[in-house]
Amino acid sequence: EEIEKGSFAHFMQKEIFEQPESILRAMQGRIEFENATAHLGGLNLDRQELLNIERVKIVASGTSYHAGMVGAYLLEQLARIPCTAELSSELRYRNPIVERNTLYFVVSQSGETADTLYAMRELQRKGAKVLGICNVVGATIPRESDGGVYTHSGPEIAVASTKAFTSQLTVLYLFSLFMARMRHMSFEEGLALVQAMDGVPALLQQVLSRADSIQELAEKYSYARSFLFLGRGINYPVALEGALKLKEVSYIHAEGYSAAEIKHGPIALVNEETPSLFLVPNDPLRDKVLSNMKEIKARKGPVIAIAVEGDREVAGIADDVFFVPNASPIVYPFLLMVPMQLLSYYMALILGHNVDQPRNLAKSVTVE
Ligand code: G6P
Repeated sequence: EEIEKGSFAHFMQKEIFEQPESILRAMQGRIEFENATAHLGGLNLDRQELLNIERVKIVASGTSYHAGMVGAYLLEQLARIPCTAELSSELRYRNPIVERNTLYFVVSQSGETADTLYAMRELQRKGAKVLGICNVVGATIPRESDGGVYTHSGPEIAVASTKAFTSQLTVLYLFSLFMARMRHMSFEEGLALVQAMDGVPALLQQVLSRADSIQELAEKYSYARSFLFLGRGINYPVALEGALKLKEVSYIHAEGYSAAEIKHGPIALVNEETPSLFLVPNDPLRDKVLSNMKEIKARKGPVIAIAVEGDREVAGIADDVFFVPNASPIVYPFLLMVPMQLLSYYMALILGHNVDQPRNLAKSVTVE
């Protein structure tokens, strides 16, 4: 175990810091600069079947479900294919309607999660074609699925998933790019996306090099017993994942919400001791997020923002800001996620918890 951790104190820390390489591995050999697209070998679908796809559904649990929610956003926005993500445990028991020309993906790091496996079998029984996005090679889901893509993250040991999530995202970006380029996306747009993806590992390296300032934030806010994580658009599921990470390893109560939705309930939780963490990329929803932030400040809630370098306005509103490098708006899920992983990690350490094996949780849940 000591050898595998190398110079790191914990697996979670190692896996967070490994992400520039693990994302690269998920992309390797799959990006085509010359055609401004991606290719994924294991889809098992011929050209006509790919063109016939009218809908995509993504089924998963836990962190993989959050990756699926980002994927749904990508498929709709980039490829203009209607797509939804659903929890495996819910899908299985609602007698799902399997429609023609619908492609199903199950996303699972371990490839063994019982709810996801049973949901896949139920879909297959009803005639669906189900592809897997899995990490563990040869696990039950990749064996029984009708095809799929491996994320190649390498073994993920810490119970709280970090690098597996960003690798799942990578595969979902590549699949969305591929589908978009078969349909209406231009070469120029495709190339811009390929270049943005290609730049992610180096940008994450910059984020990771400033982990110390996240550690300071964790110290400052470790008093909190409850946290809100707020994002919008493609970064709404990223906020959900940020809240999940904090709960899992630090045992601090955290709610992930759409920043727009706080006024319908969670704002009632806000007081001087309940911090809100806002995701503020420079995308078209930024101004809306800033006004959501002001609503919290007006109620004396501490505000932490993860924002884009040079955004002075955010710095004027929030109590603390962690800046990520400027990037193409579509790739912010990667850049905003990593600081929240670090925050949870440091928070757990400060509070003296077993960060790699949190109480009551299992890496792979093989029972219903
Ligand atoms: C467990 C793990 C989570 C994981 C979820 C789904 O709850 O603790 O980290 O996200 O299962 O696992 P899977 O292997 O299907 O991605």
